[in-house]
Amino acid sequence: MRRFVVDAGRSTTRSFGLHLAAVLLGSALLLPGVTARAQECLDCHGQPGSSVSFKDGSSKDVTIDPDAWAASVHGSMGAACTDCHTEHKEYPHPEVSASSARDYTLSHYTSCQQCHEDQFKKQLDGVHIKAIAAGNKNAAVCSDCHNPHTQRKITGEGGKLLPEGRLGIPKTCARCHGEIQSRYRQSVHGRALVDGNPDVPTCIDCHGVHNIADPRTAEFRLASPRLCADCHTDRKKMAKYKLSTQVLRTYVADFHGSTVTLFERRHPDQVTNKPVCYDCHGVHDIARVDDPKKGLEVKANLLRTCRKCHPDATMNFPDAWLSHYVPTRDRNPVVYWAQVAYAILIPTVVGGMALFVATDLVRRRIDHRRHLERRHRVEPS
Ligand code: HEC
Ligand code: HEC
Ligand code: HEC
Ligand code: HEC
Ligand code: HEC
Ligand code: HEC
Ligand code: HEC
Ligand code: HEC
Ligand code: HEC
Repeated sequence: MRRFVVDAGRSTTRSFGLHLAAVLLGSALLLPGVTARAQECLDCHGQPGSSVSFKDGSSKDVTIDPDAWAASVHGSMGAACTDCHTEHKEYPHPEVSASSARDYTLSHYTSCQQCHEDQFKKQLDGVHIKAIAAGNKNAAVCSDCHNPHTQRKITGEGGKLLPEGRLGIPKTCARCHGEIQSRYRQSVHGRALVDGNPDVPTCIDCHGVHNIADPRTAEFRLASPRLCADCHTDRKKMAKYKLSTQVLRTYVADFHGSTVTLFERRHPDQVTNKPVCYDCHGVHDIARVDDPKKGLEVKANLLRTCRKCHPDATMNFPDAWLSHYVPTRDRNPVVYWAQVAYAILIPTVVGGMALFVATDLVRRRIDHRRHLERRHRVEPS
């Protein structure tokens, strides 16, 4: 990450730049002049009531809450407003060129690039910037997810996401994906997150952050069982919830999963019509398996799931299917005993055959030798 830009014309700016370097190196000094520079702007902008209007009739409130600014990551580091607003050194300000409030936002986020090059570059590969390029102005840019005037620190030691940063993520996305977030909030994952649970996925564990990929591609679909399995095969994580870690193994062993796995290897870019985890469990509305309305242990719910692809399935259709169970004596006795029988029968039969062949061979050798000995005796040379 780059330092704040040094404005060569002003000594205060320069010393701020140097000072920031010190902060970034770990010193905790603060230069009083820095806050004073922001204060110049806040003298007006701290007062509510003003706004800026755009040609299309939209407008933006220009009030900046001084307390929120002081507590923000940029404000508390001593940033000057003009580090980002390079053209606003004087009042009256230069005329605004954006023709709408949305255009204003879209023309300002580029100011983040100078200091957050990494995130900026990644974002260029993400769905949001691609959607904007394709003409959808409502897709997210930096300042939609991070208000530059109020954004708090979200990462701690070693760049790890802080608990409060994590908790806030679904709300950030909900500014535009409200319906998905409300479904997520009701899901087994989302409900647990509200209590601060660090083990469940938030939006970004499944989608990424700055380089979000389109989740409706064949590639994403085929890779998705891995995504779920990362957590659901983690013994330590799952033990807390007494959840089976066999779900991937049994899925892959199942005819649905084995075809998807094979398919993925041969045609990584084509859609498969076999179910992946979320065809059965749902995506943003995943429920506990014993949930009466959606849980898959409830037969009516399970049948509804099968019927998405097997429209003629009858009530006993799922019975032939082992689901994630490793067969046991109680749960799938027929399959279990068949497996036990095989486990005993196969070694016995194969072993028996081998023994038979071996003894037969020995017998033939002995017979052969005896036969030769007899011939020697009958026809002496
Ligand atoms: C004398 C009061 C005053 C001062 C001082 C002031 N502003 Fe403003 N600012 C306004 C008003 C009023 C508006 C609303 C639009 C307009 O009238 O230009 C505004 C609008 C803005 C806008 C939004 C519109 C645009 O031009 O992009 C920004 C950004 C802005 N000010 C930044 C700053 C910064 C940074 C400073 C400090 C260097 C500052 N202002 C100092 C009064 C002030
Ligand atoms: C880290 C960069 C950054 C800093 C520092 C910063 N701003 Fe902004 N500011 C922006 C961006 C980006 C926008 C456009 C946001 C949008 O439209 O979503 C903006 C928008 C504004 C607006 C227009 C109204 C609005 O909220 O969108 C005003 C007024 C403004 N800033 C004033 C200030 C003042 C005053 C300060 C210092 C106290 C300041 N800014 C510090 C990046 C910054
Ligand atoms: C002039 C340099 C500069 C600009 C421009 C700037 N930032 Fe920052 N930003 C910083 C610094 C320095 C930090 C503190 C980094 C740290 O503590 O690790 C920071 C922190 C952040 C954080 C919190 C990061 C964390 O790890 O907790 C976010 C989010 C952020 N900035 C977003 C933005 C956005 C969005 C913009 C554009 C509107 C922007 N920044 C523009 C310098 C800048
Ligand atoms: C769709 C919402 C969204 C957009 C757009 C977005 N961010 Fe983020 N950003 C997040 C979330 C959520 C996190 C926390 C995730 C984490 O730290 O793992 C984050 C984390 C960060 C951090 C902390 C360090 C890191 O990488 O985790 C910085 C700095 C940052 N963003 C800057 C930016 C900048 C600059 C842009 C624009 C180029 C941007 N963000 C665009 C949602 C967004
Ligand atoms: C400012 C609004 C806004 C915010 C905030 C936002 N998004 Fe989006 N997002 C959009 C728009 C608009 C699209 C593009 C829809 C389209 O073109 O189909 C989109 C597309 C997506 C897509 C691709 C699927 C699709 O429908 O195209 C995913 C995945 C996505 N967003 C995830 C997220 C996540 C995760 C977050 C939070 C970290 C987030 N978004 C925050 C507006 C937003
Ligand atoms: C457990 C993983 C997971 C979590 C958590 C998750 N998603 Fe998704 N999301 C997916 C998958 C898988 C798809 C693809 C679904 C499909 O193709 O039908 C998807 C699709 C999407 C789409 C595009 C398709 C649509 O349904 O409109 C958006 C937008 C989206 N997610 C946003 C979010 C947001 C916002 C959150 C957080 C509130 C979130 N997701 C949480 C896995 C997840
Ligand atoms: C064809 C439908 C189907 C597919 C595909 C599927 N599941 Fe399941 N899953 C079920 C059913 C039915 C249950 C409830 C009965 C059971 O436990 O077998 C279940 C149960 C579960 C449980 C709860 C286990 C427990 O200990 O109670 C988890 C976790 C789970 N599945 C995750 C996954 C993951 C991860 C994948 C993909 C790798 C996946 N499922 C694929 C149908 C499916
Ligand atoms: C970041 C880790 C993580 C990811 C990724 C994840 N899960 Fe989970 N999942 C959990 C945890 C932890 C729980 C237990 C939550 C609780 O009970 O409070 C859970 C619970 C579940 C349950 C409910 C089991 C029951 O009956 O109690 C199902 C079903 C499930 N997940 C399926 C999925 C599917 C399908 C995916 C992929 C689309 C997925 N999970 C991705 C961590 C994860
Ligand atoms: C996303 C779609 C999808 C879902 C959901 C789904 N299946 Fe399938 N299933 C398939 C496809 C595709 C095949 C392969 C058909 C073929 O190869 O001819 C298949 C094959 C089968 C077969 C093998 C016999 C046959 O008809 O070829 C059984 C048994 C089966 N599924 C049971 C189930 C059960 C039980 C459920 C519900 C728990 C279920 N399926 C859910 C798509 C699905």
